Amino acid sequence: MEIEIQSTADGSKTIFVPSLDEHYHSIKGALTESQHIFIKMGLHECTATEPRILEVGFGTGLNAILTLEEAEKRGKIHYTTLERYPLPLEIVHQLDYDKLLDKKTASYFPILHQVPWNEWQEITENFRLRKIECDLTTLKIEEGYDVIYYDAFAPEKQPDMWTQEIFDKLYTCMAPNGIFVTYCAKGVVRRMLQTAGFSVERLAGPLNGKREILRGKKSGEL
Ligand SMILES: C[S@@+](CC[C@H](N)C(=O)[O-])C[C@H]1O[C@@H](n2cnc3c(N)ncnc32)[C@H](O)[C@@H]1O
Repeated sequence: MEIEIQSTADGSKTIFVPSLDEHYHSIKGALTESQHIFIKMGLHECTATEPRILEVGFGTGLNAILTLEEAEKRGKIHYTTLERYPLPLEIVHQLDYDKLLDKKTASYFPILHQVPWNEWQEITENFRLRKIECDLTTLKIEEGYDVIYYDAFAPEKQPDMWTQEIFDKLYTCMAPNGIFVTYCAKGVVRRMLQTAGFSVERLAGPLNGKREILRGKKSGEL
């Protein structure tokens, strides 16, 4: 797959895939987007003592390393991430994400990419990682996730990742009070999440509230 490294508006880099005409993150700011949507609106809302997180699309590992940084502050996190097309290490190095992080956190970034796939790895005492190389559309997902970071390519680029069947499957695999977050606020996605069973909120996006995002909650009484 041909890919290019590009800078985004907050100075952090992202990947552009010309064949899909799609970026891995918002060009308005990759770091700003990840921190706002997944950490602030997702993880910070979760009250589980040891959150079990499911990420769709490991990609560059940016959401994973920001979650590790949080785990070092709040305690143990179990992080499962799905990826169909793992990136080559030489591309990941060119993103310079270590320069956005404090020295200790940065030292873990290459490790996230180097550890083997498909088994649990203790990256730190507080951050357990399991990267699964798979296709979400055919995966049978185990149950019990407290937070889902839904970071697939956009619906118009990858429609098979934004179907009622997928959202039903994700709803089923969440624990009571589970929190689902995504950068996509399209009405059709909101309605599919509601049909799956989530209570859905539209929230302010990362850039002065522009480009809203969606958060779904699974009821606590099941
Ligand atoms: C928007 S990018 C993810 C960005 C990533 N969270 C990050 O911080 O870099 C979407 C990701 O989903 C992955 N992907 C595409 N199709 C997939 C599938 N069917 N199953 C699992 N992952 C898939 C892509 O390879 C890509 O890494």
